[in-house]
Amino acid sequence: MSGNIRPETMERITTPALAQAFIDEQIAAVRAQVGDKKVLLALSGGVDSSVVAALLIKAIGKQLTCVHVNHGLMRKGESEQVIEVFGKELDANLIYVDATDRFLDLLAGVDEPEKKRKIIGAEFIKVFDEESSKLEGIDFLAQGTIYPDILESDGVKAHHNVGGLPEDMKMELVEPVKLLYKDEVRVVGEALGLPHSMVYRQPFPGPGLGVRCLGAITRDRLHALREADAILREEFDKNGLAGKVWQYFIAVPDFKSVGVKDGKRYEGWPAIIRAVNTTDAMSATIEEIPYALLHHITDRITHEVDGINRVCFDLTPKPIGTIEWE
Ligand code: XMP
Repeated sequence: MSGNIRPETMERITTPALAQAFIDEQIAAVRAQVGDKKVLLALSGGVDSSVVAALLIKAIGKQLTCVHVNHGLMRKGESEQVIEVFGKELDANLIYVDATDRFLDLLAGVDEPEKKRKIIGAEFIKVFDEESSKLEGIDFLAQGTIYPDILESDGVKAHHNVGGLPEDMKMELVEPVKLLYKDEVRVVGEALGLPHSMVYRQPFPGPGLGVRCLGAITRDRLHALREADAILREEFDKNGLAGKVWQYFIAVPDFKSVGVKDGKRYEGWPAIIRAVNTTDAMSATIEEIPYALLHHITDRITHEVDGINRVCFDLTPKPIGTIEWE
């Protein structure tokens, strides 16, 4: 597939049969493009890069090297899932880099949201660059670019596509899903046999929990955020909301309030629940979560997560609030 414009005649991929036809076509196209050369892919674990990885593993096997950079801002269990699925089950050439300390050290004391994003984006490229320069004979760089990436740029925030192309990298691109919409990428991902939880995961910003640990990130608050987020996801899963709500997460601001725990003064951060529905992320409405479930989640988070002493629910639609807090 060449060019950056989706032909009007291209059928929307909605069924396993259409997905399989697309996969077969792309396997042939990738093999024709790459020959016996090597390809590098930044595998974030998000839907798009995961689908590209699975497709390329089918097409060219060990000619593909995947690099997964853990920037320390992943949700609980995400890097582990990448290692499990790609490193073990699909037997990919996977390089795992735990760069948590590098990112968190650089981010220490930085409270300006756009500056945080820029640091994360730039450091990501640096780590990826360092890893790729250790490899020999790589001619191609694969990317999980999808059609909306080509069509949209909203200008409201510097949406760093973490995992993007280092500017001075002289490699030809392999972008097998660049003409697909998100729903089509998911159908293709399922046809490739990726786990449902990976293919239908909610969108997660490139800077990860970095933009949800509001203000200057500290390790203890980041840890609290990750644990609270895991509880929210578990409860949404158990209560049938995971497949229904487009995006849901916790944000933890960098201030404390007074509370009481075990009869003593207990200062803690609030955990703010955000649960929104949207089709294009340009506007969003608030999901109505049953009160009983909100009470249950509040109970769990305040009892199970060190440092959190309140839970709030964000009722603000977009506009006026953006989906993320930063
Ligand atoms: P906002 O907050 O602008 O978010 O309403 C719209 C959608 O974009 C995601 N988002 C990001 N994705 N890098 C990303 O890759 C970013 O810096 C970023 N900021 C927001 C957000 O999660 C939502 O789905």
